[in-house]
Amino acid sequence: MKTDSKFQRMVVPEVQQQMVEFLWEGKPYKAVAGDTIAVALLAAGVDHTRESPISGTPRAPFCMMGSCFECRVEVNGESNVQACMNLIEDGMSIQRQNS
Ligand code: FES
Repeated sequence: MKTDSKFQRMVVPEVQQQMVEFLWEGKPYKAVAGDTIAVALLAAGVDHTRESPISGTPRAPFCMMGSCFECRVEVNGESNVQACMNLIEDGMSIQRQNS
C-alpha cells in the first residue's frame, strides 16, 4: 500500500541529484542515487516493507542502522536484504517480504 510520505527530502539547489528508477511490488518509482533502499521506499510513501510471519502485522524500517532487521525486503529475488544497509540501484526490483 502506498501512502503519502511523511518524509521530505532536503534539496540543495547547487547539488545536482542523479535519479535512479526502481520497481516496488512491480510499480515504477524514482529515487536519488546514493539513497539506501529504505530511504527510497520511505520517501516513495511505502508504509511497510514486510509483515510479521506470526501475527501478519506490518513492519517497517526502524533503526536505519542495521540492528533491528525490520527493514528486510526481497531484492531481485534475493530474500532478507536489509533495506537500510544497501543502496538503491537503477533497475532494482524490490518486493515486500512476508517473513
Ligand atoms: S531499519 Fe533496522 S536493520 Fe534496517
